[in-house]
Formats: sequence, C-alpha cells, structure tokens
Amino acid sequence: MIVTTVTVRVPAKINLQLAVGPLRPDGYHDLVTVFHAVSLCDDVSVSPAETDSVKVSGEGAGQVPAGGDNLALRAVSALRAAAARGSRGRDSGVAVTIGKRIPVAAGLAGGSADAAAALVACNELWRAGLSQHELCEVAAGVGSDVAFALLGGTAVGRGRGERLTPALVGPARYHWVLAFADGQLSTPAVYGALDRQRGAKPVPEPSLSAELMSALRAGDPARLGEALGNDLQAAAIAMFPALRKTLAAGRELDALGALVSGSGPTCLFLARNASHATNLAVALSGAGVCRSVARAAGPASGATVIER
Ligand code: C5P
Repeated sequence: MIVTTVTVRVPAKINLQLAVGPLRPDGYHDLVTVFHAVSLCDDVSVSPAETDSVKVSGEGAGQVPAGGDNLALRAVSALRAAAARGSRGRDSGVAVTIGKRIPVAAGLAGGSADAAAALVACNELWRAGLSQHELCEVAAGVGSDVAFALLGGTAVGRGRGERLTPALVGPARYHWVLAFADGQLSTPAVYGALDRQRGAKPVPEPSLSAELMSALRAGDPARLGEALGNDLQAAAIAMFPALRKTLAAGRELDALGALVSGSGPTCLFLARNASHATNLAVALSGAGVCRSVARAAGPASGATVIER
C-alpha cells in the first residue's frame, strides 16, 4: 500500500525547572532543565508534493512563518539531508499541514513541537527508517527543544537543552492550568534581558534541583509545586509586567505552584487534582488576568503517529 498522508500528534512542553548558566561563546546558555510534556497538542500532517510547502490553521496560525523560516520545513530539509547520507532519501517534496492548539511564541515550544512532528511524519512517509536516536540527532540541529518533543514524558535536559535523560518519576499524573497571555515574548530577547540583569557578576554553573527530582520520584504534587523554578522568570516579568498579576491570582486561588513557562509569557499553575484544576481554570478565566486559559495533564507522550 502506498502511504499518502501521515499525521503526527505532538505535545507542548513546560519546564519544571529551568536553571540557566553563563552565556556561551556560541550565543547559547548552558542549561539544566526538567522538561515535562503536557496534553496540549498540535497535529502535523505530511503528504507527497512537487515542492515543500506549509499550511497552518488554528491557534495563532497567522503568526507562524510560512516560508523557509518555518521550523517544520527546516526539519523536513534536515531529515531529507540525513536520510540521503544513509542512502535512504527521497527526492520528492512534502506538503505540511499544521493544526495548532499550542500558542505561538508562548514559552511552550510550539514551533519545536511542530518540527519534531514533521521529522517523525516524514521518516514514516519516506520509510527512511531513522532510529529514535538518529531522529534526536537531527532534531538537535533544528532547535534546542526539538529533541524533547520527540521523547515526551519528563526528562532532564542539559547542554542547550538537547542532551536528554528520561527522569525517574513515579506513576503520578499532574493537573496543570495554563494562562495564555495577550501578547508574545521572543526567546532570544528574554535570554538577553536575563544577561543584562546579571550584568558582569559571575554566573554559577546550573545544577539540578534535588528537591524537585525527589518530589517527582514520590509523585507528590504539593512538594513539586514548592520546588518549581525558572531562572528566566524575572526577565520575562520585566519585559511583560502583567504576568506579575497573573501569577499572584493563581497563588491566591491556592495553586500548589505558579510559574512562568520557559521564556513566557504563558503562566503555569499546578492543581491538587483534576477538579481543583477545573475550579482554578474557571476562576482564573473570570479574574481577567490573561487572554484565555486551558487545562492540561502531564506527563504526555512525545510525537506519535496517529493516522497513516
Ligand atoms: O535553539 P533555539 O533556536 O530554540 O533557541 C532560540 C534562542 O534562544 C537562541 O537563539 C538563544 O538566543 C536562546 N537560547 C539560549 N540558550 C539555550 C537555548 C536557547 O540562549 N540553551
């Protein structure tokens, strides 16, 4: 049977811990981060075509670049090059269709997720046969967060964030409320603001939070809420002061933890259980402190073929 379309579902990520080390000569920062995939997903389909193209619909579709800057198209090119090196390549183009639920430039790695989905989808469409390990190597060349979107679950990221080790976690499921902001933040701009806040002071090497890892092993949401941390949070708030109010509202509503997601401006709130998450979402939405809210559970699976 000839495969004509492959569809992959891919999750957003949040960072339970984001420890940012010194600025490196290549413009990146060494990180220690704990990635956590949540059940807010994009769907990405690929089908054979004369030339590569991308069509985006859904949440924030108008803000996604449609040309060669599109991360999913960059992933297609990177996979084509990697497959050709192993003589497993295909010359054909692909039409990529992205159905977005993950907001754009929101600190949820939506663009990286779409790139990861495109890698998995084209690997299947072309029957290129790259292993998960080979796909992760290609992913790391496309962006710092792309490899994690392939893996999903909960994982520790080092280096730029692309060197991953799955975290030892209990079977717990966590219930999150995401507050989407009325606006966007650029990741390089937030890292730049952090560098300026730090000035000339020496920056220690980042290290993993033992308390956070212990809370994850125990599956204890209250301890996890206490241990959440993000070195980019102060810089994100400095650039987007309204986030202070959003975080305060969640804390007043008894969230176990309140945190800016990655480089922001999405804010995250950890709930005690599913019904607390529903109440928190309704109350936050009524408080007028964000554009909209969504509930999400984690950990979620990485990029997965859902239709072929
Ligand atoms: O790798 P990616 O393209 O997703 O990174 C976007 C930007 O975020 C980089 O150009 C850099 O400014 C910043 N970044 C960083 N250190 C990291 C990851 C990203 O400074 N570890």
